[in-house]
Amino acid sequence: MSVISSKNVRDIIVKTLEIVNKEIIRHGQVTSYILYKMLEHEHIYTDQEMIDFTMIGLLHDIGVYREPNIKKNTDFEFQNLWSHSIYGFLFLKYLSPLSDKAEIVLYHHLNYSQAKNILTTQKLNHVLECLILADKMDTFMHIKSQQMEPDYFTRYRDIKFSGQALDLFTRANARFHIMDKLSNGEYIDEMNELFSKRTFSENYKKSFLEMLIYTIDFRSEHTVVHTMSTVNFSDQIGRLMRLEARDLYNLHYGAMLHDLGKIAIPLEILESTGRLSKEEFRVMKAHVQITEIILKDIIDEDVLQIAIRHHEKLDGSGYHRGLSAKDLTLPQQIVAVADILSALYGKRSYKDSFDPELIKKILSEDAENGKINPVAVKCVLNNYDTIITTYEKEKEHMLGLYLEIKRDYETIIKKFKRFDT
Ligand SMILES: [Fe+2]
Ligand SMILES: [Fe+2]
Ligand SMILES: [Fe+2]
Repeated sequence: MSVISSKNVRDIIVKTLEIVNKEIIRHGQVTSYILYKMLEHEHIYTDQEMIDFTMIGLLHDIGVYREPNIKKNTDFEFQNLWSHSIYGFLFLKYLSPLSDKAEIVLYHHLNYSQAKNILTTQKLNHVLECLILADKMDTFMHIKSQQMEPDYFTRYRDIKFSGQALDLFTRANARFHIMDKLSNGEYIDEMNELFSKRTFSENYKKSFLEMLIYTIDFRSEHTVVHTMSTVNFSDQIGRLMRLEARDLYNLHYGAMLHDLGKIAIPLEILESTGRLSKEEFRVMKAHVQITEIILKDIIDEDVLQIAIRHHEKLDGSGYHRGLSAKDLTLPQQIVAVADILSALYGKRSYKDSFDPELIKKILSEDAENGKINPVAVKCVLNNYDTIITTYEKEKEHMLGLYLEIKRDYETIIKKFKRFDT
């Protein structure tokens, strides 16, 4: 049972990151294509390794996405080199299925002379050298060639990049016409085909989607916590209501993606501590349409509808379509309840968690007033303590990861200072 294919996962990542900053992910796609073709030419990697390294190429600059001025940043390959390398590495290490290969990302801005044999296996060192070259090639072709000397690739052989990697590229290019395919756009179809032929395990897909959500949400910690709790509450309510396996699966992914569109909402509005003005609220509400734009035609229709109907109310007073009970399936109604519970239970800079009695009262009133599903609410009321305890356990684990990422960052950035001289 798999409603989300491997290609879907890659498409979701690309489309979502595109909305935040098109250039970074375009750069990732080109870099990953060059890297993929170089490795394909060598013909010594397993299918899984080929996919893993291609994903590494695609995501090597993902650390840039946590910077607050990310939207306007067109110069990302020349600024904050260490910080985006380190965050990219940490995201992949802690949040993706690529932990064992994540170090490649950590060192992608080192010169070849510094990076030589820095990793533990020969294979990883070799792929790192290929990535350094692939990254430089696209930077040279597209990003800011005026910041690199015109004779860059002859002048810095074996200094900034590996000569061997360049020779490999030359052979691969002669065989696969990499440059032609990059300029006529054929590389895109080729990558699509590669991903539609492969199946990712359920866990592999799930970790990538989680990584995506956490990466984007890293700018706004409460959004991460909100998404996490909405997923957890949805799962629990769904199980209590004895949904079928298929519905539980869709519910889980729908909840995970329900606020994806918030990536396009300015931080001042997301993090606002006061009441939103009418105009700000209008902008905030657009997150639902943005989620729809990203996911439409990529993801299973059931999952999509669960994700984009969480602000609809049973009496038709919600948004963005103003649908009513008869149009809303049970999983859709459950995410709506979980979303409210998460908002009430969550702490914000300006509000503590509401106390349990108040939370229960608000939910009951909403149910009585015909806004949200009364059976789902009853499940929450009857199992309140268990639901919260279960969720708190998962949250502790996730926040632990967050703290670890922040701590690791401080340690690594100190060590990186030696590369600055
Ligand atoms: Fe980079
Ligand atoms: Fe929402
Ligand atoms: Fe939400």
